[in-house]
Amino acid sequence: MDILNDAYALVIERIGKDIGFSLALFLGALSYIVLRLFLRIAQRLLCFVRSRRRTLNAIARRYTENGPLEGKGLWLTRPIHQPENYQTNLLAAKILAIANLKGGVGKTTIATTVGSCFAHDWGKKVLLVDLDYQGSLSSMAFAENRSWIPGPNQTSIATKAISNDFDPGLLLDCIKNIPGMPGLDLVPAYYDLAQADNRIPIEWLLKCQPPAAEGILQAIGDLAYGKLFRIYDVRYTLAELLHSTALRAAYDLIIIDCPPRLTTGAIQAFCASSHLLIPTILDRPSAEAVISFVEQIEAFKSQGIFPYIHHVGVVGARVPEGSVAARQSRTFLHARFGAMDTEATLLPLDKEFPQAAALVRNPEEGIAYPHICGDQRNQNICNAIRTLTQHIANDMGIPQPIAQPLAAQ
Ligand SMILES: Nc1ncnc2c1ncn2[C@@H]1O[C@H](COP(=O)(O)OP(=O)(O)OP(=O)(O)O)[C@@H](O)[C@H]1O
Ligand SMILES: [Mg+2]
Repeated sequence: MDILNDAYALVIERIGKDIGFSLALFLGALSYIVLRLFLRIAQRLLCFVRSRRRTLNAIARRYTENGPLEGKGLWLTRPIHQPENYQTNLLAAKILAIANLKGGVGKTTIATTVGSCFAHDWGKKVLLVDLDYQGSLSSMAFAENRSWIPGPNQTSIATKAISNDFDPGLLLDCIKNIPGMPGLDLVPAYYDLAQADNRIPIEWLLKCQPPAAEGILQAIGDLAYGKLFRIYDVRYTLAELLHSTALRAAYDLIIIDCPPRLTTGAIQAFCASSHLLIPTILDRPSAEAVISFVEQIEAFKSQGIFPYIHHVGVVGARVPEGSVAARQSRTFLHARFGAMDTEATLLPLDKEFPQAAALVRNPEEGIAYPHICGDQRNQNICNAIRTLTQHIANDMGIPQPIAQPLAAQ
């Protein structure tokens, strides 16, 4: 300190008090700028080192005595930053993911019909979220109306929702009502979602941008040390949107139609969902695919990525009457689930979703449910849909409406 004081006194003596004071101010400002620059570079460096380590941990091959072993994958790395009140929000949420990594097993058909049943028969406010870039649910919902398809320089609502481009209010403004279906809304998806599914994890690995502070305390914490360490976790973007007070107030139930792949959208769907329904065709290859999928879900749960998701069950879909293959697949699934450490079970026969020609519709014909249930010839299939809907409602704690004229038919 003495040296500084002496130096200051010397400067004042040589160049005068005013100029000395200005010089001190200038040097102070310069040191502040240099310090900030240094901290910024240090932050970038730390982010780079962390993201490189995470990338290698996640996807690099390991070389063992028995040969190379694939990494467990980026999505299975431990959570970096879970949303505030994540567990509490999930326990209160009514969000159902309908998923299976096998394609064509009836996920979209079940999402649409069960969602329609809740809206049409139960009078619930239901939001369907299409997270498959093929947009089968979106094109079925909007039939010949093509206004939901994003223009040449636009992105779909699903892309924005998983890319952190929305706050809850903005999402609610963009959500579309399905024509002719009061109470049933949709977040549509289109082919641009495929690019977002690839872009998001790569940006996450490379850039590691810390998010902006959410409150005053977090901002102070950031100033002290947080920005150096806090890193955004892209797996919880959809969870933060769907668990918001605005979305919770707007909908009784949210149903997410997942793609048949572990995309960014699918991972975000699992992190946002309180419940999971797995439709499957009842043949041997599909039954084996279900076991592998449930094993993956359990690995995610035990790794703490989405530990609170609850299995509604595995439901046989498109089941032809009296099929021998279906009977053998049920036995196989019961035996395998019995030997696994999972709460997933195969739903009983009366909850299965039968094969029905009435459910096969061209996208331009729109949602089948109101037409099926308006036709006396389809009462069997209509009852099957209502039984499955009732089971889902019981499991998710969705209260039955007092007056239920259609379901009583
Ligand atoms: N219960 C059913 N009875 C008859 N056909 C059905 C039934 N459920 C679905 N299908 C038909 O099977 C095909 C695949 O169904 P759907 O699109 O619902 O499956 P998905 O699992 O969503 O497929 P993807 O994996 O491609 O998203 C569609 O042509 C649909 O009409
Ligand atoms: Mg589908």
